[in-house]
Amino acid sequence: MISTQIQTAAYLFAGILFILSLGGLSSQESAKRGVLYGIIGMIIAIVTTVLGAQVEGHIYIVIAIALASIIGIFLARRVEMTSMPQLVAILHSFVGLAAVLVGFGSYLDPHTATLTGAAHSIHLIEVYIGVFIGAITFTGSVVAWGKLEGKIRSKALLYPGRHVINIILVIICIVLGVLFASAPGTEGMIHLYIMTAIASFIGVMLVMAIGGADMPVVVSMLNSYSGWAAAAAGFMLGNDLLIITGALVGSSGAILSIIMCKAMNRSFLSVIFGGFGNTTASGSAKEITGEVTASNHAEVAQLLKDAKSVIIVPGYGMAVAKAQYPVHELVQKLTEKGKTVRFGIHPVAGRLPGHMNVLLAEANVSYDIVLEMDEINEDFSETDLVLVIGANDIVNPSAKDDSSSPIYGMPVLEVWNANKTIVMKRSMASGYAGVQNPLFFHDNTDMLYGDAKDSVQKLNAQLQ
Ligand code: TAP
Repeated sequence: MISTQIQTAAYLFAGILFILSLGGLSSQESAKRGVLYGIIGMIIAIVTTVLGAQVEGHIYIVIAIALASIIGIFLARRVEMTSMPQLVAILHSFVGLAAVLVGFGSYLDPHTATLTGAAHSIHLIEVYIGVFIGAITFTGSVVAWGKLEGKIRSKALLYPGRHVINIILVIICIVLGVLFASAPGTEGMIHLYIMTAIASFIGVMLVMAIGGADMPVVVSMLNSYSGWAAAAAGFMLGNDLLIITGALVGSSGAILSIIMCKAMNRSFLSVIFGGFGNTTASGSAKEITGEVTASNHAEVAQLLKDAKSVIIVPGYGMAVAKAQYPVHELVQKLTEKGKTVRFGIHPVAGRLPGHMNVLLAEANVSYDIVLEMDEINEDFSETDLVLVIGANDIVNPSAKDDSSSPIYGMPVLEVWNANKTIVMKRSMASGYAGVQNPLFFHDNTDMLYGDAKDSVQKLNAQLQ
C-alpha cells in the first residue's frame, strides 16, 4: 500500500510524462521517445492506482491485467499496418464501454449513497454525462470499426429529418437526466438505462451519417470522445490522473480532427454532428469520358531514365502491397543517376494519420526528401515525371473542378500539372471514397497496371 501523498506525486509525474509523450509524437525523429514516455507514464499510473489505499481484491486485478496484456500483445503483434485504424477504433470503443460501466457501478456504489446536497448532485451529473459520452463513443467506435473493416458500407447514411430526430433524442436525454437526478436512492437506474440506449443509438447514427472520405476525421474525433469519456470516468472515481489523461486525449484528438478537417476542406462541425450541412457528401460525380492509356514497365523505366526530376506520390495501395522497400531501392537507383527524387505526401494518404511517413521511415527513406502536400504542390508544373504508387482519391482532379463530386473541396496533390504522370495500380477500380478518377483519362497520364510491389521491383530490374 502507498500513501495518498506518494500517489499524488506519482500521478503528477505520470501526467508530465504523458505531456512529454504527446510532444514527442509530433515529429518522426522524436516519436519513439514519445511512445516510451507514454509507456513509462502508464506503468506508473497503473501501479500507483492498484497500490492505492482504497483498492481491494488485488489478485483479481493482477489476473485481469495479465489476461488483458496477453490479448493486447497478441492482437497488436498480429495486426497489419493497414488495419491500424480499425484497431484504434475498437480500442476507443472499450474506453466508451468502460465509462458506461464505471457510471453504472458508481451510481450503484453504496459509498456514494453517503454523499449529500451539492456533492450528491454533482456526482449524479458526472455519472449521467459520463455514461452519455461513453455510450456514444462505444457504439460510434464500433460502427467506425465496421466501416473501416468493410463490414458496414462506407457511404454516408443520410435520411431526411435526421438532425431533427437527433435534437429530439438529445432533448429526451436531458429530460431523463432531470428525472434521474431527482430520483431517490438508486431508483434513477431505469432513466440511466433508457438514456444509455438512446445515446447508443445516437452514436450509431452519428457515424453512419459520415461518408468514407471523412473517415479519418471520425477516427480522431472518436479518439477525442474517448478522452472525454475517460475524463468523465475520472470525475466519477475521483481520480485526478484519469481526468488529466482524459483531457489530454480529448483535446489532442479534437485538435487533430480540426487539422484534418482543414486538410480535407471539411467543416469540423459538419463532421462532429454527422455530416451536418455536408451536402456534397452524397453527390455523384460527373460521367467521365475519354481513353485510358496503358503503359508497360520498359516504357516507364525509359521515362525514368529520361527524367531529371521525379516526384513519387504514395497512397494506400503502396501500404497494401508493402512496396515501401523496393520504392526505397528505386529512389536510391534514381539518385545515383543524378536525378532529383522527392515524395509528395497527402495528409490523409492511406488509412491513418502519418501512414505514408511511417512506411517510408520503416524503409529508411531520408526525411528530407519526404515533403508534405503544401510544400510540394506548386512544384509539379516543373516536374518531368510523377509516379503515383497505389494512390487514388488524393490525386483526384474532381476534388478541384467538379462541384458535384463527393470529394469536391478536398485539397489534393495536383500531379496532373507535371509533364507526365504514371499511375501504378491493379485496375481502374475507385479508391476509398468510391469515386471515379478523371486523372486516369488525361492525355499526359499513363496507367501501369499491377501490384505496386511487383511493378516497382520490375522497374528496379529495368534500371540495373
Ligand atoms: P485510395 O483512394 O483508397 O486508393 C488506393 C488505391 O490503391 C486503390 O484505388 C487501389 O486500386 C490501389 N491498390 C490497392 N491495392 C494495391 C496494390 N496491391 N498494388 C497497387 N495498387 C493497389 O487511397 P489514397 O489515395 O491513399 O487516399 C486515401 C483515402 O482514404 C482518402 O479517401 C481518405 O479520406 C481515406 N482515409 C484516410 C485515412 C487517413 S487518416 N489517412 C483514414 C481512413 C480513410 P486497385 O484496386 O485498382 O489496385
